[in-house]
Amino acid sequence: MEQLLIFPYSGNGLEALSCIGDKYELVGFVDDAIEKQGKTSFGPVVYSREAFEKFPNAKVLAVPGSPQSYKIRKQIIDGLNLSEERFASIIHPDASISNLSEIGRNVLIMAGVVLTSNCIIGDHVCILPNTVIHHDSAVGAYSLVGSNVAIAGNTKVGFSCYIGSGTNIINGITIGDYTIVGLGSNVIKSMPENSKVAGNPAKTIG
Ligand SMILES: CC(C)(COP(=O)(O)OP(=O)(O)OC[C@H]1O[C@@H](n2cnc3c(N)ncnc32)[C@H](O)[C@@H]1OP(=O)(O)O)[C@@H](O)C(=O)NCCC(=O)NCCS
Repeated sequence: MEQLLIFPYSGNGLEALSCIGDKYELVGFVDDAIEKQGKTSFGPVVYSREAFEKFPNAKVLAVPGSPQSYKIRKQIIDGLNLSEERFASIIHPDASISNLSEIGRNVLIMAGVVLTSNCIIGDHVCILPNTVIHHDSAVGAYSLVGSNVAIAGNTKVGFSCYIGSGTNIINGITIGDYTIVGLGSNVIKSMPENSKVAGNPAKTIG
């Protein structure tokens, strides 16, 4: 079994723990917040970044990001100063991934996710439970896709986007880089870069 460190000790990090199956053994979490460091109430230890050197053979799953910080996920992950080979991709054993799909490095795919044929999932992407991504669709690097999202065929989600849970995205459109889609939206047309949209049909907010 390979060793694994999960960064940070956050909601995404905790949910990642239930996805690691039999392939990895958790060494612990890594978090910069001193108040989070130490033993957790349920057992695992939260380390500082020194753990990356202390456990040189441990792979790393880095899953920072929230609706507040989705645009700087690349910065945060680059700031860990880890080589690309150090990252693991974790796929929950109950996800259904077509052999015809491609998955990058440091990708987290949670339970119940279905990737049908010819999906391309970029590096450093998180996909939360029960999301379905249909044929020939792509999710760009550093993006987060919430739970119960349906992305229809031939749709492209850009770089460093945040797709809120419960959203549906119609087939054949493009969601521009750095876009956030609010919880429970229906996106029925392409969105330019840096959009903030929500609702049914999804429109610009804020
Ligand atoms: C889209 C989002 C980021 C907007 O947050 P915000 O910038 O703080 O926006 P506000 O709450 O100030 O809302 C601005 C307007 O958009 C509307 N709005 C916000 N989110 C909406 C949503 N999901 N659906 C419909 N309308 C929404 C608000 O009602 C408000 O409308 P008003 O101006 O008419 O009053 C946030 O609402 C959201 O949906 N985040 C995703 C959360 C998520 O997916 N969580 C699950 C992760 S596991």
